[in-house]
Amino acid sequence: SNANANDDLKALIRTIPDFPKPGILFRDITTLLLNPAGFAASIARMADATHGPIDLVAGIEARGFLFAAALASPLKAGVLLIRKDGKLPGATIAEDYALEYGQDRIAMHADALAPGARVLLVDDLIATGGTARAAIRLLRKAGASVSQAQFLVDLPDLGGAKLLRDDGVDVSALIS
Ligand code: PRP
Ligand code: ADE
Repeated sequence: SNANANDDLKALIRTIPDFPKPGILFRDITTLLLNPAGFAASIARMADATHGPIDLVAGIEARGFLFAAALASPLKAGVLLIRKDGKLPGATIAEDYALEYGQDRIAMHADALAPGARVLLVDDLIATGGTARAAIRLLRKAGASVSQAQFLVDLPDLGGAKLLRDDGVDVSALIS
């Protein structure tokens, strides 16, 4: 069942209190990545949850890259990198956003996608949704069609997934 799948994967992540700041319960997915069956099952379930053809999987730096890269092959899609500002060598477009524990700016190459490209947004985790919503603004500014977003972990108390759904995005997460 979905509940069991959720629990199986949930057992592979751990919680580190007070990282990177006091009061934050950091959900650490590195332990799931270390588990061959757990990582493979995560990618298979994300691929299964994807509907319709996808041209590009957009991964958010840094941990989102791992899931986006692994999904590219089963989805027969390319990988679009959404990076912290200042890292990409070509001409970029950027968006500012607020984090659960700070403020940042993300960027993508201005010429990374053709207008109307069907883009699946992928990250390891959604909390407040600030990062994912900035990524969606950025992708849509570049002309992408972004109708789906997938995450390994949703922290529902922080409300990000609901905000994305209110923006018209079909959100799925393997662990809640
Ligand atoms: C984490 C996570 C998401 C974001 C989610 O990344 O990987 O990208 O926070 O938080 P939000 O929904 O409140 O925006 P982080 O900023 O820690 O960057 P990193 O992956 O480069 O460590
Ligand atoms: N990104 C934002 N909030 C987080 C949390 N609590 N754990 C892991 N990554 C996060």
